Amino acid sequence: MTGSRIATVDEVPADGSFLFTLRRVEDGEEREAVLLRLEDGIAGWLNYCQHFTHIRLDKGSGAPVRDGEVVCANHGAMFEKDTGLCTYGPCEGAYLNPVDLEVRDGTVYLADEEFEFVRVGPTERDPTDLSSKSNIEF
Ligand code: FES
Repeated sequence: MTGSRIATVDEVPADGSFLFTLRRVEDGEEREAVLLRLEDGIAGWLNYCQHFTHIRLDKGSGAPVRDGEVVCANHGAMFEKDTGLCTYGPCEGAYLNPVDLEVRDGTVYLADEEFEFVRVGPTERDPTDLSSKSNIEF
């Protein structure tokens, strides 16, 4: 669904990511996403790796950014912030899943028909779900 306000541009850190939760319109499933600051705007990606696509990039506080690229906290795959392309790691050559955004007057809005905005921050994480904290599934 389009038009929901997600954050101001200033809330998106230059050296990290802004974590938020969406709901997929098709099946009602909650999915996490991140906003990343670019030199000339903001990019939005679902917060799931392309190595194991059910595994989040982060460990609970948003995907880390190193040397201008998003890093999967599990096995260190690196993704370009602007294109989502994996430049290093087990899924090299794959792309993160995009979230369509609109930036207007310093504010970031959801512009993706596939999703509804739910909240700032993560989905309710199941403490028994080891996929969000384990890195032994190489
Ligand atoms: S799950 Fe991301 S690099 Fe393995």
